[in-house]
Amino acid sequence: MIRFKTTSPEQTEKFGREYAGSLCSGDVIALTGDLGAGKTCLTRGIADGLGSDSNVSSPTFTIVNEYEGGRLMLFHFDTYRLSGPDDFLMSGLDEYFYRGGVCVIEWSDIIEELLPEGTVRMKITGDGNERLFECSGPENHLNYIEEAARKAGAEPEEQ
Ligand SMILES: Nc1ncnc2c1ncn2[C@@H]1O[C@H](COP(=O)(O)OP(=O)(O)OP(=O)(O)O)[C@@H](O)[C@H]1O
Ligand SMILES: [Mg+2]
Repeated sequence: MIRFKTTSPEQTEKFGREYAGSLCSGDVIALTGDLGAGKTCLTRGIADGLGSDSNVSSPTFTIVNEYEGGRLMLFHFDTYRLSGPDDFLMSGLDEYFYRGGVCVIEWSDIIEELLPEGTVRMKITGDGNERLFECSGPENHLNYIEEAARKAGAEPEEQ
């Protein structure tokens, strides 16, 4: 588990931008945290870091937005309105995991049991301008995350 704190939305975005440089085809990043935690803010940084020039906002009318134009496709999910894992499967959304892009999933707890092996999990909490990121996943990703947090100037947090 890697823990660090950001102190502004810009810093969260910068972390995402730095981390994006380490992402590979098929990576899945599962985000949890309340309304306004910073899940979309982080995704915006990742999209930018992948080189997509699209404007990232929460998918409002669909469950997933597709961003192209970058080094890898970015599939940005917001599963908030799904009733559960069955709903996700019935819509065939699990196919996105195998389409060779990067998947970032807001409210991933709703489909927790469907997340593929190797998924990177980030839990975001906090208030004001401070956010604590608690990250778990494969060792190589924990190293990328630690490095990206350092480059973004985010404060490491002890366990
Ligand atoms: N350190 C920080 N990191 C990220 N966002 C921050 C931070 N400090 C303050 N904020 C503010 O918190 C809000 C985060 O909004 P964002 O849309 O990213 O949240 P979200 O987790 O996607 O919420 P939702 O579940 O509604 O989609 C923004 O208004 C942003 O300016
Ligand atoms: Mg959001």
